[in-house]
Amino acid sequence: MATMTRGTEIATALRAAGCVFAEDEAQVLIDSATHPDELNRMVEQRVQGLPLEHIVGWADFCGKRMAVGPGVFVPRRRTEFLVRQAAMIATLLPTERPAVIVDLCCGSGAIGAALSDQLASYRLHATDIEAAAVACARRNVEPRGGRVHQGDLYDALPRELMGRVDVLLANAPYVPTGYIGLMPPEARLHEPRVALDGGADGLDVQRRVARDAATWLAPGGVLLVETSETQAPGTARALAGAGLLASTVADEELGAWVVLGSVRSISF
Ligand SMILES: C[S@@+](CC[C@H](N)C(=O)[O-])C[C@H]1O[C@@H](n2cnc3c(N)ncnc32)[C@H](O)[C@@H]1O
Repeated sequence: MATMTRGTEIATALRAAGCVFAEDEAQVLIDSATHPDELNRMVEQRVQGLPLEHIVGWADFCGKRMAVGPGVFVPRRRTEFLVRQAAMIATLLPTERPAVIVDLCCGSGAIGAALSDQLASYRLHATDIEAAAVACARRNVEPRGGRVHQGDLYDALPRELMGRVDVLLANAPYVPTGYIGLMPPEARLHEPRVALDGGADGLDVQRRVARDAATWLAPGGVLLVETSETQAPGTARALAGAGLLASTVADEELGAWVVLGSVRSISF
C-alpha cells in the first residue's frame, strides 16, 4: 500500500474538517511552518476552524502578502475589485502632486496598501476603530510610507485632509445584524462583530461614511464603497442622499459590487 505523504495527510484532515481548498491550504501550512511541531499545531488550529490567514499571519491580496492577525478582518478576494476600480480612478488624477488616498475602516490596511503599490506618488492615510486592526494595518501601511489612525471614521483623520482626499476607500461593515448568525464560523467566531455588523439593513456605517464624504473629498475626488448585490441600491441611495453623484459597478464572477460617489459639479 502506498504511504501517504504528509501533504496528503494534511489535505485529508483539512477536507474532513470542511476546508474546500484543502490541498492548497495544506501547501500554505507546509510552506509557512518552520518546524514539524509548528506544522502539527497549525493543522490542528485549522481543523478547529481558525481562519488560515490568522494561523499563518498573512493573506494573499492583490498578489501581495498582507499581514493579518487574530481579531482582524481577513481581506476578501472580492475586495480586489474595489482596488482595481480605485486604481482606474487614480489614473485620471492630476499628476503634478501626490494622490491623497484614505482607507476608512481599514482593517488590516490591505486595500490602501494594495492601491498605493499601483501609484507612482501618493499620500496614504488609513483609519479603524479597533486597536487590533490599527496595529495590523501599521504593519502593511507604514512600510509604504502611509499613516494609520485609530478612531471613529473621519474623527481619526488629520483635519488638514478636509477637501483634499482624491480616493476615499470604504469597505465598512455591511452585514445586516440578522444575517451575522448565518455567516460561516470562520467569520462569525473569529472576526470581530464590529467588523461585520452593519445594523438592521447593513448600511448604518455606509450612511455615516456617505454623509460626511463631500467634506473630505477634493474636487474630482471619488468615494468607493464595497457593498453586495442586494444592498447596492440602498448604498447608492445613501451616497445620492448625501449629495454625491452615485454609480454602481460590479464583477459578478467575483461577487463584487462597488458604489462610486463623486461630488456633483455645478454647471452654469
Ligand atoms: C468589513 S471590515 C473591512 C476591513 C478592510 N477594509 C478590508 O476590506 O479588509 C470593516 C472594518 O471596519 C472597522 N470599523 C467598524 N466600525 C468602524 C467605525 N465606526 N470607524 C472606523 N472603523 C470601523 C472594523 O473594525 C473593521 O476593521
